[in-house]
Amino acid sequence: MEISIKSGSPEKQRGACVVVGVFDHRKLSLAAELIDQAANGYLADILRRGDMDGKQGSSLILHHVPGIASERVLLVGLGKEREFRDKPYLDAVRSAIKVLSDIGVSDATLYLTEIRVKKRELAWNLEQAVLVTQETLYRFDQMKSKPEEQKKSLRKLVLAVQRRDDLALGEAAVARGMAIAGGIKLAKDLGNLPGNVCTPTYIAEQAKALAKEFGLGIEVMEQPEIEKLGMGSFLSVAKGSDEPPRFIVLTHKGGDKQKNVKQKPVVLVGKGITFDSGGISLKPGAEMDEMKYDMCGAASVLGALRAAAELKLPLNVTGLIATCENMPSGRANKPGDVVTSMSGQTIEILNTDAEGRLILCDALTYAEKLDPACVVDIATLTGACVIALGHVATGLLSNEDSLARELLHAGDNASDRCWQLPLWDDYQELLKSNFADMANIGGRAGGTITAACFLSRFAEKYHWAHLDIAGTAWKSGKEKGSTGRPVGLLVHFLAKRAAG
Ligand code: BES
Ligand code: MN
Ligand code: ZN
Repeated sequence: MEISIKSGSPEKQRGACVVVGVFDHRKLSLAAELIDQAANGYLADILRRGDMDGKQGSSLILHHVPGIASERVLLVGLGKEREFRDKPYLDAVRSAIKVLSDIGVSDATLYLTEIRVKKRELAWNLEQAVLVTQETLYRFDQMKSKPEEQKKSLRKLVLAVQRRDDLALGEAAVARGMAIAGGIKLAKDLGNLPGNVCTPTYIAEQAKALAKEFGLGIEVMEQPEIEKLGMGSFLSVAKGSDEPPRFIVLTHKGGDKQKNVKQKPVVLVGKGITFDSGGISLKPGAEMDEMKYDMCGAASVLGALRAAAELKLPLNVTGLIATCENMPSGRANKPGDVVTSMSGQTIEILNTDAEGRLILCDALTYAEKLDPACVVDIATLTGACVIALGHVATGLLSNEDSLARELLHAGDNASDRCWQLPLWDDYQELLKSNFADMANIGGRAGGTITAACFLSRFAEKYHWAHLDIAGTAWKSGKEKGSTGRPVGLLVHFLAKRAAG
């Protein structure tokens, strides 16, 4: 898909379709106004007849509009003008792209990007139009024996800006959108692949391929090296499975080029459980298939690094991925087992289904070696987070408020939001164990917070934040599929840091 920027009047655009907005109630946007003038009141007439009143979610396709160079004009309802915020804008772009791909036009010029969205700037409009377009057109048919029959697909999209002066800014916004979309697609594909294909070995192979394509540094550690590092907690989870574990270190060295001083890396840590059966504390059967998505944190780290490399962000970023399966077997962890983490702290495993924290804690200890500027881990960690925040916001917990604020802002600007939960010491006592330094669970109450409290004990030496994406990494039901979140949030966070 080719997406470009252009400034020019809508009535003069040649091609298959121009897309313009109409506000509720029957108020033409600027571009629609220009079309209407060139067409001698053709649009105003249609609105007067009531075929289109500008309600959110409505659309109307018109052919052979007099005086218009384009073959078609697509009118898209925007809702009330004074309520034109993020959601109505994103919904309008989404419905435009749906209509275009349903009728099978191969190219279009979108004028919705010109419309002012409350509290947003043009660059946001453009970046989000790119992301919504790629999201709407995404298909996952790798595992079908033959791809589903499809109409001709949208191949060329032009995004309109009003002023020629905005072209440069627009190009940059589109480039960022495309890089994020590339990262999201990578994360989605990995998430959607079944557990028998997307194994720890497969993730490592994909990481190697990514490193090669984008010039990233890579190190993949196998069982013996992971043992040498002393990652007893991570390995205790891995040993229940026949699939061998991998520990992956990916580096984007964008920060050392400018100055001679070594820049401390931002470290991203991803949970890569390629299937979470629960282990001996076996999960119930319903929807267990969705536990193939338990590696979405790892996938988002790969996606974010891909985007950082594509954008050549002047920043050092290191991705750490701990990946294995959580399975029941004769060699699996049992409730009551005590393991020793890389940090030396011992852990009583009271529930083998709380495995994410067991693999992440060793990755967090490994991160100390890298002398990080900060560490952000991303994990489908707790069902409790889905109960707390639903499928809208990612959970955020941090030992450093300024880092939490950066992530909150990044999420807002990326339309990939997170929401902070407290990490007060009052919750730490819930992890007390009679037999080890700590237990791996803290009971049902405040499950997202106690999970983060557990991780915080391995992240004391640096600024750290934890993103719980259990509710946001994938969708269930009819629309089942990976979302690619929080790649957008992470890329915005990195880009802002790179900009200084
Ligand atoms: N991967 C799951 C968390 C999860 C569950 C994410 C459902 C999305 C949907 C994690 O490994 C897990 O099983 N967590 C347990 C922790 C509990 C045993 C303390 C949970 O949330 O039930
Ligand atoms: Mn689990
Ligand atoms: Zn899990």
